[in-house]
Amino acid sequence: MPQLIFKEADGTETTVDVPVGKSVMEAARDGNVSGVVADCGGALACATCHCYFTEEQVTHLPAKSETEEDMLEFANAELRPGSRLSCQIPVTDEMDGWVIEVPDTQ
Ligand code: FES
Repeated sequence: MPQLIFKEADGTETTVDVPVGKSVMEAARDGNVSGVVADCGGALACATCHCYFTEEQVTHLPAKSETEEDMLEFANAELRPGSRLSCQIPVTDEMDGWVIEVPDTQ
Protein backbone atom coordinates (compact mmCIF):
# COMPACT_ATOMS: atom_id res chain seq x y z
CA MET A 1 0.00 0.00 0.00
CA PRO A 2 1.52 3.38 -0.94
CA GLN A 3 2.53 5.80 1.79
CA LEU A 4 2.06 9.54 1.38
CA ILE A 5 3.78 12.10 3.57
CA PHE A 6 1.89 15.34 4.12
CA LYS A 7 4.07 18.28 5.10
CA GLU A 8 2.16 21.11 6.71
CA ALA A 9 3.22 24.76 6.74
CA ASP A 10 4.49 24.49 10.35
CA GLY A 11 6.77 21.62 9.34
CA THR A 12 4.59 18.83 10.78
CA GLU A 13 4.86 15.68 8.67
CA THR A 14 2.16 13.01 8.70
CA THR A 15 2.67 9.67 6.98
CA VAL A 16 -0.48 7.93 5.79
CA ASP A 17 -0.89 4.44 4.34
CA VAL A 18 -3.48 4.77 1.64
CA PRO A 19 -5.12 2.17 -0.58
CA VAL A 20 -4.65 2.70 -4.32
CA GLY A 21 -7.66 4.45 -5.81
CA LYS A 22 -8.51 6.64 -2.84
CA SER A 23 -7.97 10.32 -3.44
CA VAL A 24 -5.06 12.26 -1.97
CA MET A 25 -7.68 14.33 -0.09
CA GLU A 26 -9.15 11.17 1.45
CA ALA A 27 -5.67 10.09 2.48
CA ALA A 28 -5.13 13.44 4.22
CA ARG A 29 -8.52 13.20 5.92
CA ASP A 30 -7.85 9.63 7.06
CA GLY A 31 -4.52 10.78 8.46
CA ASN A 32 -6.09 13.74 10.31
CA VAL A 33 -3.98 16.22 8.39
CA SER A 34 -5.56 19.40 9.73
CA GLY A 35 -4.34 21.61 6.88
CA VAL A 36 -6.54 19.79 4.37
CA VAL A 37 -10.09 20.89 5.15
CA ALA A 38 -12.07 19.41 2.23
CA ASP A 39 -15.33 21.18 3.07
CA CYS A 40 -17.25 19.77 0.11
CA GLY A 41 -16.14 16.18 0.64
CA GLY A 42 -14.58 15.88 -2.80
CA ALA A 43 -17.36 17.36 -4.92
CA LEU A 44 -15.01 19.90 -6.51
CA ALA A 45 -16.94 22.76 -4.99
CA CYS A 46 -14.74 24.29 -2.27
CA ALA A 47 -10.99 24.46 -3.07
CA THR A 48 -10.15 23.70 0.59
CA CYS A 49 -8.23 20.55 -0.36
CA HIS A 50 -5.52 22.57 -2.14
CA CYS A 51 -2.08 20.92 -2.00
CA TYR A 52 1.30 21.59 -3.57
CA PHE A 53 2.93 18.91 -5.69
CA THR A 54 6.46 19.24 -7.01
CA GLU A 55 6.94 19.94 -10.69
CA GLU A 56 8.27 16.40 -11.10
CA GLN A 57 5.27 14.88 -9.32
CA VAL A 58 2.87 16.87 -11.47
CA THR A 59 4.14 15.09 -14.58
CA HIS A 60 2.68 11.83 -13.17
CA LEU A 61 -0.74 13.25 -12.35
CA PRO A 62 -3.88 13.32 -14.48
CA ALA A 63 -4.43 16.64 -16.20
CA LYS A 64 -6.56 19.27 -14.49
CA SER A 65 -10.16 19.48 -15.60
CA GLU A 66 -11.51 22.88 -16.54
CA THR A 67 -13.60 22.84 -13.36
CA GLU A 68 -10.56 22.15 -11.18
CA GLU A 69 -8.74 24.97 -12.95
CA ASP A 70 -11.65 27.32 -12.21
CA MET A 71 -12.02 26.20 -8.58
CA LEU A 72 -8.30 26.71 -7.90
CA GLU A 73 -8.91 30.42 -8.43
CA PHE A 74 -10.84 30.35 -5.15
CA ALA A 75 -7.96 28.88 -3.16
CA ASN A 76 -6.94 31.11 -0.25
CA ALA A 77 -3.24 30.33 -0.36
CA GLU A 78 -0.86 31.41 -3.11
CA LEU A 79 -1.01 29.30 -6.23
CA ARG A 80 2.16 27.57 -7.37
CA PRO A 81 2.90 25.61 -10.56
CA GLY A 82 2.21 22.40 -8.62
CA SER A 83 -1.08 23.55 -7.09
CA ARG A 84 -3.82 20.94 -7.34
CA LEU A 85 -7.09 20.12 -5.63
CA SER A 86 -6.21 16.89 -3.87
CA CYS A 87 -9.73 15.43 -4.11
CA GLN A 88 -9.13 15.14 -7.85
CA ILE A 89 -5.95 13.08 -7.54
CA PRO A 90 -6.29 9.30 -7.26
CA VAL A 91 -3.50 7.60 -5.34
CA THR A 92 -1.34 5.21 -7.37
CA ASP A 93 1.48 2.83 -6.47
CA GLU A 94 4.04 5.13 -8.04
CA MET A 95 3.17 7.82 -5.49
CA ASP A 96 4.67 5.72 -2.67
CA GLY A 97 6.92 7.95 -0.55
CA TRP A 98 5.80 11.23 -2.07
CA VAL A 99 6.01 14.28 0.15
CA ILE A 100 3.02 16.53 -0.53
CA GLU A 101 3.03 20.07 0.81
CA VAL A 102 -0.05 21.52 2.46
CA PRO A 103 -0.61 25.30 2.17
CA ASP A 104 -0.66 27.50 5.29
CA THR A 105 -4.33 28.32 4.77
CA GLN A 106 -7.33 26.86 2.97
S1 FES B 1 -12.73 18.71 -1.29
FE1 FES B 1 -13.82 20.40 -2.09
S2 FES B 1 -12.80 20.80 -3.96
FE2 FES B 1 -11.70 19.14 -3.13
